[in-house]
Amino acid sequence: MRETAGIIWAWHSDASPTPEWELPSDLPRSDDLSHHTFDVAGYPQDVMENGVDFGHLPHLHKIPVKVEDEPVSKGTEYVVSVEFQRSMPPFGTIQQDVSMRIIGLGALRAEYRIFDGKLRAYTWALATPVTPSRMNVRVATSVRLGQGAGAAGTRLASSTAAATVRKALNAYVKHDIGHDLTVWNHKQYIKHPKLNEGDGPIGAFRHWARQFYPRPV
Ligand SMILES: [Fe+2]
Repeated sequence: MRETAGIIWAWHSDASPTPEWELPSDLPRSDDLSHHTFDVAGYPQDVMENGVDFGHLPHLHKIPVKVEDEPVSKGTEYVVSVEFQRSMPPFGTIQQDVSMRIIGLGALRAEYRIFDGKLRAYTWALATPVTPSRMNVRVATSVRLGQGAGAAGTRLASSTAAATVRKALNAYVKHDIGHDLTVWNHKQYIKHPKLNEGDGPIGAFRHWARQFYPRPV
């Protein structure tokens, strides 16, 4: 067990009492966080896969998505870059450039660049299995100003305004996962599922994810 980036990480494996891989060394810590914890049916991979399941975003979450770069497998990390056109009342439709780092099957860190990067938000989605078929999913959001934020940014920099933005963005994350729950709570395992092009790179992601599965004895 160890603390990195303000998160307690625990290694669990029947095969190895010590970690077989290390966390990235560049994970930043965020201190001012808005957070929420869900009790969810399913497995941590479901949460991580949500980040590459591009096909469900416009239908389930009403978020049109443009894939900026093909996902990249970097050892124990899987990196995804997309652009959202997100309706965020009362602010209208806002473009978000989103970079996601999936770290093993337990953690996803999304960076949102909003207003051309003048505002940046960071959301952790952390999945902890608690029984063989249930998990806790904790989401936590922080914000900070990017360069060139200008006068509006100066106003945002006050702690009260930043907290308001942070809470609002975390509420959107909570709202989105609420929609996912309607799916996750009714999923069934299918050994050889059929995928189509609209599902996004789920096949490639699942291939990457296999490295974390128990090895046959
Ligand atoms: Fe989703």
